[in-house]
Amino acid sequence: MPGSVASNTGPQLRCIGCGKAHESIAQNFRCPDCGDLLEIHFPDLASFEPSVLKTLWLERKTSLKPPDQSGVWRFRELLPPLQIEPVSIREGNTPLYELHSCARAAGVTRLYAKHQGMNPTGSFKDTGMTVASSFAKQAGFRWVACASTGNTSASMAAYAARANMRSLVLIPEGKISWGKLSQALDYGAITCQLRTDFDGCMRVLNEVVQRAPVYLLNSINPYRLEGQKTTAMELLEQFEWQVPDHIIVPGGNLGNSSAIGKALMELKELGLISTLPKLSIIQAEGANPLFRAWRDNQGESIEPMQADTLATAIRIGNPASWKKAVRALRATRGTVEQVNEVELALAKAEIGADGIGCEPASAVTLAGLKKLVKQGFVQKEESVVLILTGHVLKDPEFTLKFHRGDLFTGTEHEKEAAILKPQERAPIVLDATADAVWKTIDNAERSP
Ligand code: F0G
Repeated sequence: MPGSVASNTGPQLRCIGCGKAHESIAQNFRCPDCGDLLEIHFPDLASFEPSVLKTLWLERKTSLKPPDQSGVWRFRELLPPLQIEPVSIREGNTPLYELHSCARAAGVTRLYAKHQGMNPTGSFKDTGMTVASSFAKQAGFRWVACASTGNTSASMAAYAARANMRSLVLIPEGKISWGKLSQALDYGAITCQLRTDFDGCMRVLNEVVQRAPVYLLNSINPYRLEGQKTTAMELLEQFEWQVPDHIIVPGGNLGNSSAIGKALMELKELGLISTLPKLSIIQAEGANPLFRAWRDNQGESIEPMQADTLATAIRIGNPASWKKAVRALRATRGTVEQVNEVELALAKAEIGADGIGCEPASAVTLAGLKKLVKQGFVQKEESVVLILTGHVLKDPEFTLKFHRGDLFTGTEHEKEAAILKPQERAPIVLDATADAVWKTIDNAERSP
């Protein structure tokens, strides 16, 4: 039976509810006293010298040492200390792109995408998984497990394989994209498709980890969030530590927004930045528990719901990290918005047409930004960064259906979806003649 993952000197495990510090972590990652989530607290941030850190982090980008080549571990001063070589697949170091036509569509002048889909398994999960799987390995666990809407399972399966650990995946049957499912299989996970939704998978997994020495790798594991913090660090480094006005993230289980918010607060405390960008969270209308909580009670309490959206990655009705996310929203003076299925489908096509591409859940950021601009929450001249969380190839079925014009066929959105027509580029079947191809070019030239 492996030992529990103990905290090291320096950073402490602390409960976000009662504030009590803990020496070790239980299998369910909750405070034994009050049941709230734990976090990793850095008590001595003020002791770092900001300019030394900036130089050190940047210099590591040219180092050939494996931990330095990881875009996560090169920021290790702000990660919990690890005694072994990290389990890494060279995650992080993802690109920042300027989005020109999406900026026009949204009505802002400076719009960027931080593309976390450019990680080794195609999603932002890798940045957290490298840290949490390393701590699992250090503690001697043979099995790791997660409930997932697809990306966590793909990432976990890869990192477990690299670390010689076995992995167990619980996913909702029929509700994850084939691309993600195929990754978990390819990396050798034991994959169980449960007849329930993500929230049901999470419930079952919580029971499993209480019974067996299996290490939970969902984002309630605070080591995951520590790794995901580096998205914000890297982003600010790419902006040469000039703070953008807004950062916009999709919200599902709310781990990522919590992690980015935590990073921003720590960087400010440390003196690496002097102001905070507003961090806003966008949810799909059919999976919007945080949106409703924010609108109805400013995030004091949350009402779980039955979730449904074509953006299957964020089809979550009972988000585990909602309190941490609310704390980030309050600290950064951000907001929560929701978008409907047609709005997110249009935004996904627009990001694709900008030559970038992302999976459906990531596109809620652009759809949400359009609304925030209309409401005046985001001003035209402000700089905005969208966090694109997953690669376009994660969910090709969505993209193909969109371009063939049948994403919404037979659904309540069919009429509304007429606005998507100009974006559709269905594949064209032709006779194999140059003439036929030439006519097609000619037609394309005539249409907008
Ligand atoms: N975008 C993508 C592509 C995701 O896969 C997820 C979550 C999110 C956004 C939302 O992030 O949960 O931290 O708020 N996917 C999880 C999974 C739940 O199992 O892959 P969050």
